[in-house]
Order: sequence, then structure tokens, then C-alpha cells
Amino acid sequence: MAVLPMRFLPDPVLRRPAQKLTKVPPGLKQMTDDMIETMHVQQGVGLAANQIGSLQKVAVIQLPDWTEALVLINPEIVKREGELELEEGCLSIPGYRGLVKRSVRVRARAIGLDGKVIRIKAEGLLAQALEHETDHLNGTLYIDRLVARDKIWKIGYRPDEEGHEGHEHDGHEHHASEGAPGPGDSPSPDGSSACVDPPADAPDAGPPFRGP
Ligand code: NI
Repeated sequence: MAVLPMRFLPDPVLRRPAQKLTKVPPGLKQMTDDMIETMHVQQGVGLAANQIGSLQKVAVIQLPDWTEALVLINPEIVKREGELELEEGCLSIPGYRGLVKRSVRVRARAIGLDGKVIRIKAEGLLAQALEHETDHLNGTLYIDRLVARDKIWKIGYRPDEEGHEGHEHDGHEHHASEGAPGPGDSPSPDGSSACVDPPADAPDAGPPFRGP
């Protein structure tokens, strides 16, 4: 296994839709093993192929309490229910988090490395990760799904923490930077935006942005 170089905003590969695979190619296991190792090193809960520069429609997900990763080929969300606001980050947009709209429950379908169909009913962090990674494979990023244009902030400068603006967090947020903590961690919608410093291209592609 190998750790692969990550692609970051504004790399155009993040904005291109991945191509559906018509079969499981022989080299794919190697690639997904490398994606899993890369996800572990980055301390993420998911990684899509675009993020390592591939446009094969493949993603890996591993929630913090899972002992192994799920490999999803051609994943798609087939049903969405409900809507909620969640805090989210992305390994390809380091240093930032935002408040996004996601589904409460999803049903997803994919193919496994063994060629068999995988059907998933999910809510919570898994639903969020499934939506986040299938978005990646369609060229969509979480910054496209912000509840409002200014609901994005630098890590450590979350706008809803009264009296703590500018306070540096203890780093636990980095741990879930691909995915997010639970709903309890969401900033309040009326939080001050004094410290918000959105990426230059949020929510649409614009001038180059590099995370801090
Ligand atoms: Ni991401």
C-alpha cells in the first residue's frame, strides 16, 4: 500500500465527474488499498478517486468505529429523506469547515471489489459521508452545499462560539475533516460571521484558493 498525493482546491480534477466503471479492472484493488491508506494518513472518514487525481468512479469510506474500509464502485444515492444542517469539512479543502444541507437518511447502491451489488441504508455520519463522496464523484464539493454563502470558517475560528472567537481548537476537528462530527456540533444559524473567511472560490469556481 502507498500513500498517494492529494489533490486540493482549485485542482480542476475535483470539478470533473468521474466515469462509471463497466467492470472491476485488475488494478483497482491496488488503487483502493492505496486510497484507504491515504485516507488513514489524512485521518479522514472517506476519500473519492478525484481527490487522488483519478476519474474512476470509486470511493472509500471508513467511519471512526469501523475496523475496515468500505470500497464503493459506481456509488449512487438512490433515495434521500429529510433534510438537516451539518458541519462538514473536506480533505481537499484543508483548514476550513462549513455548515451544509444534507439528507437525514439515504439509500445508496454501489458495486464492491468482488463485483457484487452493495445496498446501504444509512443515517448520521454514514449518510453524510455517502452524500459527500458521491458528490465528489460528480464534481461537487461541500462548499456548493453551504446553507448560506458565509457559513464557512477557518478551523479554530468557528463563528458561533460566543466569547471564543479566534480560539484554537484542540485538533479533534482535523480528525473528522472528511465528514463531520454529529449534529450537536453544528454552529447556530445566527452565529456571528465576524471571523468567517471563506475560500475565494466558494461557492463556485473562481480565483485560486489554497488552504492555510
Ligand atoms: Ni471531501
